Amino acid sequence: MLLLSHGCQSRLLAFATFIVACGALSLPSQTPSRPESRNPVKHIPNIGLGLWNSKDDDATKAVGYAFSAGYHHLDGAAVYDNEPFVGTALNASSSPPRHRYWLTSKLWNTAHRPKFVRPALEKTLSDLNTTYLDLYLMHWPVAFRPDTPPERQVVDQDTSILDTWRAMEDLVSANLTRYIGVSNFSPRELDALLKDAKIKPFAHEFETHPYLQQQEWVDWHHKHDIKVIAYSPLANSNPTYHDKYPKLDPILADRFWNELALDKNITTAQAILGWGIQRGTVVIPKSVHQKRILENLASVNVSFTNDELAKIAQQDRRARFNDPGRSWGVELFEGLDGGSNRFLLDHEL
Ligand SMILES: NC(=O)c1ccc[n+]([C@@H]2O[C@H](COP(=O)([O-])OP(=O)(O)OC[C@H]3O[C@@H](n4cnc5c(N)ncnc54)[C@H](OP(=O)(O)O)[C@@H]3O)[C@@H](O)[C@H]2O)c1
Repeated sequence: MLLLSHGCQSRLLAFATFIVACGALSLPSQTPSRPESRNPVKHIPNIGLGLWNSKDDDATKAVGYAFSAGYHHLDGAAVYDNEPFVGTALNASSSPPRHRYWLTSKLWNTAHRPKFVRPALEKTLSDLNTTYLDLYLMHWPVAFRPDTPPERQVVDQDTSILDTWRAMEDLVSANLTRYIGVSNFSPRELDALLKDAKIKPFAHEFETHPYLQQQEWVDWHHKHDIKVIAYSPLANSNPTYHDKYPKLDPILADRFWNELALDKNITTAQAILGWGIQRGTVVIPKSVHQKRILENLASVNVSFTNDELAKIAQQDRRARFNDPGRSWGVELFEGLDGGSNRFLLDHEL
């Protein structure tokens, strides 16, 4: 038994009190056990293939193109309705061994009740033909009642974010996922989670791109050692977003970005994604075209001078494209640019 002097004990006590006082931010970072005997990918790769809107066989082919191009990271979700097609690609003999790539999926809103969390992940694993994920995200900070049809979803007031998170924490100890994280949280929601979580979120996936830079929000995560995964990194290129701000140029046709790319002898998509990577976010562009999948990967070699970065900072439009809050009857992104509590005037865009 270790005997400590009185002075040493009180120093230890003071240290312990300090640790407790630090609250959520002193949570141990996730130290995953190894779900498979081989060493899995150590760090989340800074670029991954997005899979929303990649349908059926297109999803299978896109994953094949990504692997042969040299991607080691896929970003999917149960609600994208294509996990069996992604699983077909993962099962192909040409695919790399499982421990060589990073696999993210997301828990859908109808499975937030604690008893549904593990079955939801097990279904995803079975669809993907794999035994573990690298990262499982709570897709939205919103629970839906599980017993309502998709076209009439009702918010489930009886299930809190923390209830769901606790069940997700159990998935790490069950070796079903190496890390857990969140997506689309507001500062208030994340703060509340950090106060009571046993496991700190490894990553936060949210919309950010040159038209919605949210630099302070990104910096906050980096300061607290939470990875930022930048979704829709090509801004309004996703056709689902085309009607949202009709006055805003498609980013790939934006004069500023076209000229910057031309100057550097790269494509506009590479310039935009390269900026996302240089600012320390993980970018997950989606494409089903082999040429574009290859093109996007080359953005890892792009770099900007401080002068260029300052000019890019001025290109922020605070334009958020993905906000289903109104149709769900909830307020999302409180306090953030383009969030439900901030109404942009047309002339701002
Ligand atoms: N957590 C969340 O709530 C959430 C929400 C949104 C998205 N995400 C994730 O983030 C991923 C990426 O976001 P996103 O799909 O919204 O949009 P995105 O990746 O920013 O843009 C995708 C669009 O850009 C086109 N594209 C891709 N590369 C291109 C290139 N080099 N040149 C020209 N066009 C190009 C694609 O067309 P083609 O496919 O026709 O090539 C597609 O229409 C998603 O797939 C998903 O994995 C997560």
